[in-house]
Amino acid sequence: MPAIVETRGLTKVYGDGTEALKPLDLDIEEGEILALLGPNGAGKTTLISMLCGLVSPSSGQARVGGHDIITRYRDARALIGLVPQEIALEPFQKVWDAVRFTRGLFGQGRDDAHLEDVLRKLSLWDKRRSKVNELSGGMKRRVLIAKALSHNPRVLFLDEPTAGVDVDLRRDMWNMVADLRRDGVTIILTTHYIEEAEAIADRVGVINHGELLLLEDKQALMTRLGRKTLRIELRRPVEAVPGGLSGYDLELAEDGRSLSYHYDTQGEGTGITALLQDLSREGLALRDIHTRQSSLEEIFVDLVKGEDA
Ligand SMILES: Nc1ncnc2c1ncn2[C@@H]1O[C@H](COP(=O)(O)OP(=O)(O)O)[C@@H](O)[C@H]1O
Ligand SMILES: [Mg+2]
Repeated sequence: MPAIVETRGLTKVYGDGTEALKPLDLDIEEGEILALLGPNGAGKTTLISMLCGLVSPSSGQARVGGHDIITRYRDARALIGLVPQEIALEPFQKVWDAVRFTRGLFGQGRDDAHLEDVLRKLSLWDKRRSKVNELSGGMKRRVLIAKALSHNPRVLFLDEPTAGVDVDLRRDMWNMVADLRRDGVTIILTTHYIEEAEAIADRVGVINHGELLLLEDKQALMTRLGRKTLRIELRRPVEAVPGGLSGYDLELAEDGRSLSYHYDTQGEGTGITALLQDLSREGLALRDIHTRQSSLEEIFVDLVKGEDA
């Protein structure tokens, strides 16, 4: 099956010369959840804005659902729901009208049952007669989501959906994403909260300085790049790592009660057996040991740091 979103050599250079997106070839499969991770200024919003027709590409092509985003803009855009990073709403419009208007804008017939369902899922039903400017920031963000879902999009872009939102909204959003995935909706989410990608994405892309540094299945990425940590709890605290253990990558906790040993899951051997022997040779008695897989967050920080170095 052809990808639902395809870009070929897509770039953006803004008028002031900022190269916000370097030539990008990207295929997004129907039904997948792709998280694009990147620090501020990486080019995430620029990419999404081009795919949604809000920013014009400098070169290259892109298609959504097989429709060229320039020559077949309306067909492409009709398939897309966008929850923008910035809140942009008509202040005096009522919630219900805002959502109905957006659906109409995409040429879809009236479907009040669908709109009611969307508003209920987002805990906005009771607010449907409120004017947008009477709502809190979190509620406004919910309205943006409702608008994006009003016309049954096949592809949903969420641009930093949970930046600065409360716990309830984050939970509702994650539930909503799970529902949409069940319906086969493709979801592209940008975030710099890596835990979010870790929790819900199938694939993860890392973007920095306008360049896609990596694009990989989330599980594979975590296995490939994940370092593991062995935490060794000591029976008695020590003041320093004994000299006889200087050959190991060990970190002593501030209270001197535990040591952390980092090892590579891809490496030849972990070195753990030898380490445990050397610990007892140094007279350190163990209370307990645990292992921990490094999170996507740590992988991401390492990647972006490595690139800047
Ligand atoms: N309208 C614009 N004019 C000039 N530069 C812009 C404009 N919008 C974004 N940029 C620049 O493009 C780069 C990418 O920005 P953006 O796509 O917003 O990144 P992100 O969403 O990842 O934070 C940044 O250097 C930003 O300052
Ligand atoms: Mg952005």
